Amino acid sequence: MTLTDTTSPVRTADTSSPILDVLAERWSPRSFDETAEVSETALTSALEAARWSASAANTQPWKFIVARRGTPMFDLITENLMGFNRVWTPNASVLIVNVAEVVDSEGKPRRWGMYDLGQAVANLTVQAHADGLHVHQMGGIEVEGLRAAFDLGERWEPVTVTALGVVAPAENLADEKTRARELAPRTRKSLDEIVVTA
Ligand SMILES: Cc1cc2nc3c(=O)[nH]c(=O)nc-3n(C[C@H](O)[C@H](O)[C@H](O)COP(=O)(O)O)c2cc1C
Repeated sequence: MTLTDTTSPVRTADTSSPILDVLAERWSPRSFDETAEVSETALTSALEAARWSASAANTQPWKFIVARRGTPMFDLITENLMGFNRVWTPNASVLIVNVAEVVDSEGKPRRWGMYDLGQAVANLTVQAHADGLHVHQMGGIEVEGLRAAFDLGERWEPVTVTALGVVAPAENLADEKTRARELAPRTRKSLDEIVVTA
């Protein structure tokens, strides 16, 4: 793929062994179609996939704050993203604040809270991709700003924000650096680097 490609890119992973198509084909764009609406069915399916994720002792220590583009809540979430993320997220159809319960109701730290939330968001991502949507997760968020904006208290921690929508051509991105990142080859560490065997 070159920087002059203008079609919606297919960026299938180059895997060392076959994996499910939906996993190989999922990727995180920053160019979203500013006119696209996500159907209520697709949005509910994505959230349902998160709901059915595994969690430690089935505690389900998560909450999802969901806002569609054009609503005050969407703008409030955008205001609580870090600089670079504020530039490209306004075209997403939906923003979701992913919140983990990090302390239980008795005041004990919930050590798996963020782990469980991450799995639930991964489920949501895969379901959304299978339904023809794209997802881009962000850790560059204002944690305390989001906590205050949504009155979350100390037991709940905003961990990431997910942008959900319909992918658009990379050329729609005004910023050249962001456009180049959109088209750069997708890479990963090799299995040898991350798997420890005897
Ligand atoms: C927890 C987490 C935080 C991330 N934070 C950001 C972010 O703040 N801004 C951004 O543009 N991308 C962010 N990303 C996207 C990653 O950069 C992206 O997933 C990674 O480069 C791999 O690319 P791929 O998802 O297209 O395979 C984040 C992803 C995850 C899972």
